[in-house]
Parts: sequence; structure tokens; C-alpha cells
Amino acid sequence: MALPVCYMIFFMPVDPRLNRFMAIHGRIRSRFPQIDRDIRGNRRIYLNSAAGTLVVDAAAKAMAEAATWLNSLPGEIYPSEEATKDFHWHIREIAADFLNAGSPDEISFHFSTTQALFNLAVSLRGLFTGQRDLIVTDLDHMANISPWEMVGGKWREGEVKRARIKEPGLLDTEHLLFLVTKNTALIAVPFASNSLGTVVPLQELVAGIKAKAPNCLICVDAVHHAMHGAIDVQKIDCDFLAFSGYKIFGPMLGVLWGRKELLDKMKPYRVETNKNLTPFKYEQGTLNNSALASLGAALQYLLWLDDELNPQDRLKKENRRAKFRRVMNDIACYESEMTGVILDKLSQLESSRVRFYGIVDPKSSSQRDPTFAFEIAGQKPSETKKLFWERQGIQIADGNHYSAVFCRHFRKDSVCRASFAHYNSVEEARAFLATLEELLTE
Ligand SMILES: Cc1ncc(COP(=O)(O)O)c(C=O)c1O
Repeated sequence: MALPVCYMIFFMPVDPRLNRFMAIHGRIRSRFPQIDRDIRGNRRIYLNSAAGTLVVDAAAKAMAEAATWLNSLPGEIYPSEEATKDFHWHIREIAADFLNAGSPDEISFHFSTTQALFNLAVSLRGLFTGQRDLIVTDLDHMANISPWEMVGGKWREGEVKRARIKEPGLLDTEHLLFLVTKNTALIAVPFASNSLGTVVPLQELVAGIKAKAPNCLICVDAVHHAMHGAIDVQKIDCDFLAFSGYKIFGPMLGVLWGRKELLDKMKPYRVETNKNLTPFKYEQGTLNNSALASLGAALQYLLWLDDELNPQDRLKKENRRAKFRRVMNDIACYESEMTGVILDKLSQLESSRVRFYGIVDPKSSSQRDPTFAFEIAGQKPSETKKLFWERQGIQIADGNHYSAVFCRHFRKDSVCRASFAHYNSVEEARAFLATLEELLTE
């Protein structure tokens, strides 16, 4: 919901969750060593979380500790290898809780989400009888398109169809449903666009797909949304979902969830000596213990945040899944207010020189994450990016963001993108808007 103008001047949230969030915002920011300066000591405002979030202090520390102490391989004889085995399981458990997965062995770890999805596309070969076609979308990151076009499409010898987007940068779900037939084997969809911020109404969409094609599999790319809101794979009723550690305050690492009964049947490329068991058969080579430790610490940070927001519950033995859900909803609530501040201002900006892609109507702020793609007429995105840096030390991104929206739909090489996360302050959002206004009036 957008804030009235008076609240834009003196930001005074009325929702008690927001009050609590605002009250501890300084403590949240203090957990991110890079929050207001970069590696060279420059003061900066970081508005590039869609490219990689800042790393939370505990996640960075956990990497070093794991490297120092953990045995490289798990095992069952020496205490140190037993510790590594338990540690791997513990990280699967916490990742499963974060996603509300059926069980920890539905979680596998990969070098990146891109690699996880290529692995997945290969693993599905030979699984379907009769079903052939695949559907990808114009709202996705290419990591959830190329594996299906280059690998999935080939082994199926079927058609790879593309669901389009519609104004103002939404997935055209009617078009996607129109493309679904009983021959559709798999549909790859995003949770949210990493360039436009648009969130896909997944529960509704999946119900529509399954009504038309009950055996069709659904693969969700949740990389962009994972930092912004709760993910519940059981509620969505999808079959696979992936996210990346470095987009959730932690390490470069891909996490893949899949339904156990499917994972058991599928055939990943596997060295003969690796266990032919879920989830181990999906993991190629030795696991990266430092990255896993860092992922665990990043997810623990979210539980810490929940404790900070709800100190009255700190001593209660609470369900970890419920805590993840609550804290991610609180993050979404705070970010939605920040989005409201930005969209309110954009709707007042009277300039034909700036074009914003995606949802700009403040009334629809709940349908988007705080990720804003834009361009200034007559200025290369790389120039705009430089000016934001020179004027106010604001770090935004330029490029196509590996996003099908720009690579294919708009056929653009580059646009600017300002992307916020829960550690950004309303003052930082205002500094972004003021700098934009300044550039537009020159
Ligand atoms: C939405 C989305 N999906 C997938 C990816 C790829 O993730 P990774 O870098 O872990 O392969 C990214 C990375 O930018 C992304 O933003």
C-alpha cells in the first residue's frame, strides 16, 4: 500500500510490524559490514542487491571457520568426518525449513543456480511418456530458459514455447495457460523478475496449469524473490525450485529443491562411484563446505532477525518454519512500504525523459519486489550509472541483467536497474529519487 504524502515527508509507519522493523533498522544495518562503504572505503548507497546482496557478518565468518575446522569429506569413523556428515545434514535441514520442503533430502547443493538448472534439465531425460513440449517465459532470467531450450528441448524433440509478458511488465498468465496442452512436459517460471521486480501469482497459476495438464512439471526460479518474501514450495505446489546463496546475504552457491518421488526417479549425470541416492546423486564432486556453512549462517541471520522483531517469543521453542515465514513476511511488509515511497514519487515525476519498466502504479506495489528498471532518454545506461555514483555514491546496475525481458522482449542491450533490500533505508530510497530528479532537470 502506498503512503500518503504526509508520511513521505515524515516516514511514520502505522502497521505495528513496520514500527518494530524501523525501530531495529540500525541493528539490521550493523550486521552488514559493507552497508555504507565499499572495499576501497568509499561511502556508498548499495542499490544493486538483485546482482548480489551484501553478505551478512556471520555468513562471512562462517566461511573462514568451516575452512579452518571442517574435514573435507563426510564419513562415519573419525569424529571429524562424522561432524562433516552431520553438518551437511544440518544445512539441508535449515534450507528445507526455509522453503517448507517435505524433507531435507529434497535439497541438493550446486556451484550455482544456473548449474543446478542445467543439471535438472539433463536429469529429466527419459522420464516422460507422451508428453513433449516445454514452456519458458519472457519474464525469466536466462538461467531458467537456456537449460530448457538447449538441453530439455533437444532430448524431448518437442517444441519449446514462450509465454509472453503484458503491460506493465507482468507475466501474461492467460497466454501461458493457452500454451499448455496435455503434451506439456514442463513449465519453467520465475517467482519474480530480476529486472522488473514483478512477482508472479504462482499459486493461482500452478492451479490453472495443473487443471489443464495434471502431469506437467513446474520449475520455479526463486533466485530473485528469495531475499524479498516467504517461499512455501508445498503451498505453490511446484515440483522444483532453485535459489542462490549470494542473493540471500550469503555465499555463491545454488540450492535446488525437488519432490523426493521425482528426484528418486530422475537420472542426473553421475560418476559411477557416487552414491546413486537422492540427494547425493545430484551433487557433482565434493561439496563446498565453506559455502554451505555460509548459507547456514545467512539463514540463521533471518532467524536472528525474527527474534529481534519478536523478543517476547525468544525463549519459546518455536517452529523454525513458522519463524522463517514470519520474518520473510515482515521483510516483505517493510519493503512494500519502501516501494510505496518510490512509486508515489515516480507517479509525481513529470518528465518525459525517464522511462520506468514494470509496475509503477502505487496501488499495485504488493505485486512487485523493490527492483526498478529504467532509462533516461539521451543517456547511455552506463553514463547514468556513472552519474549516480559520482553525484551521491549510489551503486546501481546497467546491462541486460541476463533477463529475457530485455534480451528478447524489448531487444535491448542495456537498461539501468536500482534494486533494494530490507537493509536499505527510506533515506537511501529518497537519495536515489533526489539524484534521479536532479539528472532529469539538467
Ligand atoms: C532470477 C535469477 N535467476 C537465476 C540466476 C542465476 O543464478 P546463479 O548466478 O546462481 O547461477 C540469477 C542471477 O543473477 C537471477 O537473478
